[in-house]
Amino acid sequence: MTYAAITGWGKCMPPAVLSNDDLSTFLETSDEWISTRTGMRERRISHVSAIELSTVAASRALACAGLDAADVDLIIYGGVSNDELVPNSASGVQIALGATKAASIDLNTACTSFCYGLTTATAMIRTGVVRNAIVIGVELISRYMDWSNRNVAVLFGDGAAAVVLQASDTEQGVLASSLGCDAEGRQTLRVRGFGCTYANREISFGDTLWDFDGQAIFKRAVHAMAEASRRVMAERGIAPDDIDLVVPHQANLRIIESVAKYAGVPMEKVMVTVQKYGNMSAATVPVALVEALEEGRVRPGATLLMPAFGGGLTWCSLLVRWGERVTPLGHSTIELPPPTQSALEMVNAIRAHQDPHGRSLAGLMAPAFAESYTLSAAG
Ligand code: ACO
Repeated sequence: MTYAAITGWGKCMPPAVLSNDDLSTFLETSDEWISTRTGMRERRISHVSAIELSTVAASRALACAGLDAADVDLIIYGGVSNDELVPNSASGVQIALGATKAASIDLNTACTSFCYGLTTATAMIRTGVVRNAIVIGVELISRYMDWSNRNVAVLFGDGAAAVVLQASDTEQGVLASSLGCDAEGRQTLRVRGFGCTYANREISFGDTLWDFDGQAIFKRAVHAMAEASRRVMAERGIAPDDIDLVVPHQANLRIIESVAKYAGVPMEKVMVTVQKYGNMSAATVPVALVEALEEGRVRPGATLLMPAFGGGLTWCSLLVRWGERVTPLGHSTIELPPPTQSALEMVNAIRAHQDPHGRSLAGLMAPAFAESYTLSAAG
């Protein structure tokens, strides 16, 4: 029997921090409202493209696994905020990494994209289609945000993380996945105008219109993630007490607490990053996983639960058995160029090209990213 071991992991968090107080400088909101309703205190704003964030995360994951990019058979790029749609983003990461023989797939199931990608890559390894894969969860929401809409603008942040999967004879990796889509609720979470493209270092913002029914999403998210978690535990005969760590999607601290309660797992066993990164959509679960490893919260042989929920309304929960190794085999020297502006300055630059309703001003194009598009290898 072939399994898909998770042998490498790495994240790339853009360094610029946007605080709740920064948001209060242009929105009618407050640190008190945001932190009590969501658990969020700050989030990151990226000065580089989603492909660059992904490339750094993926090269760190490859170094961690001790795997050469030339040996990668498959790259799955999970996320919704693609730099461009044709060619796809996975191919952009592929060329930046030098993964010359990889198949490259963009996978969009919104916030669940990384978990769906992990399930897809696992299935492809277990059935012998590929042997080595990179799965990325990435999001660059700030470029598409309607910064005039306080209902959503306070909730999101940018970031990326990736894992390497490799064929293995020992029983580890994703052991059970429960995936589904509550399509009856698809109108409760819509971003119209998403999918605009940019090129030549300039961005055309398009008109994004964020329609979110927060309370309906909240209820459906809790129900779906808790049920999916129960199903994967039952499938493998695992009791809630046997779960060592829950690594959930991070849309709201109160959602995480409710899912943990219904799944029967105490909060001490739940990885929470929402306070410092907000909701990074597809990047939330892999970033939380990488940080759990960095903090020593994943022990050899640990059993992990990964519930997630997103637009569609897609839902899932994955049961993962960790292998023996919880430390990296090596480290990548690739770094992002430093940002030249603060997070608030970057957001204000985007806002300057939106009218008071968050729509782009006709004919205006804004400089998208820092001058340097080149990743540097330090040291
Ligand atoms: N600052 C201050 N006030 C605000 C803000 C804000 N940023 N946003 C909304 N309000 C106001 C509302 O206008 C409303 O005012 P009113 O009572 O005068 O009408 C009041 O706060 C209460 O709004 P509610 O919607 O009842 O607030 P709630 O406690 O439900 O929290 C939230 C809203 C945080 C969106 C919550 O419903 C939630 O987390 N929902 C699910 C998560 C979600 O939608 N995430 C988006 C991504 S989807 C995903 O990742 C799965």
